Amino acid sequence: MESFNELQREILRLKAEKNALILAHYYVPLEVQDVADAVCDSFAMAQKAAGAENDLIVICGVRFMGESAKILSPDKTVLLPSPDAGCPMADMVTPEDVMRLRKLHPEAKVMCYVNSSAAVKAVSDVCCTSSSALRIARKLDCDEIIFVPDKHLGSFVAAQVPEKRFWLHDGFCPTHHRVTEADVLAAKRAHPEAVFAVHPECGEDVVKYGDLVGSTAEILDFARRTGAPEILIGTESEIVERLRRELPEKRIYGIGSSFVCPNMKKITLRALYECLRDEKYQVELPEDQLRAARKSLDEMVNS
Ligand code: 13P
Ligand code: SF4
Repeated sequence: MESFNELQREILRLKAEKNALILAHYYVPLEVQDVADAVCDSFAMAQKAAGAENDLIVICGVRFMGESAKILSPDKTVLLPSPDAGCPMADMVTPEDVMRLRKLHPEAKVMCYVNSSAAVKAVSDVCCTSSSALRIARKLDCDEIIFVPDKHLGSFVAAQVPEKRFWLHDGFCPTHHRVTEADVLAAKRAHPEAVFAVHPECGEDVVKYGDLVGSTAEILDFARRTGAPEILIGTESEIVERLRRELPEKRIYGIGSSFVCPNMKKITLRALYECLRDEKYQVELPEDQLRAARKSLDEMVNS
């Protein structure tokens, strides 16, 4: 067990005093992950928020994660340590975009990546995360799927589900999109024996080299289970740090020059401490949006 610094001890004290549940995404700084009750990918975070018994839930992640927790647990107080930590990909699609696509493809169902606003979830048929997208797309009762907002995850899913026709929006994650095929080839040249685990938010040119294509939790799992002593990680830098700490016997390498989600780094220990101390910033959503978005998230969590 790691030894905690003063701020971490204060956070743990406030957490116990207020009976709060702290859920952290794998991309927030490790020192924040260390004081969380659970560290999760987006799917596990939604599941844990839905099943939470605590009246106070703190989501150490970006805004759509806080919104999803509120939608799934509307009677709970949900706090976000940094209210300006958004996800640029989630901002790339609006409810109007979804309605326009629905008009163009009236037979299609709308599947929205959880990295989207509550307003977009409210006009979608079903939500998915990177770990559940394939399963949900295969199960969905329709021949055509409108997929928003991530064109990279969308085309990865479309390639694995050829029996359905996909209509993709053109959103992307600036952090994952930045990595190029040349970055992967350079990393492979430097570490020819390494296996490669990559997130499907990367472009097709990068994902095609993956020995494993999966969510953050699936990448961690793969790294723990593989017999390979060298692993290239095609996702955010905190995963590389976490694995280096957890698996000192393996050699873990990132790819590209700066694989960092700047929004996730806004969730500092100081921000978390002040959030718990002052019980700010609460996630609030209009009642009708909460109800409508809940249907598509419920479908995802129970699928
Ligand atoms: P995960 O579902 O893998 O947690 O991904 C969330 C995310 O924002 C990746 O950029
Ligand atoms: Fe959004 Fe990309 Fe950051 Fe994930 S890594 S939260 S998709 S900006």
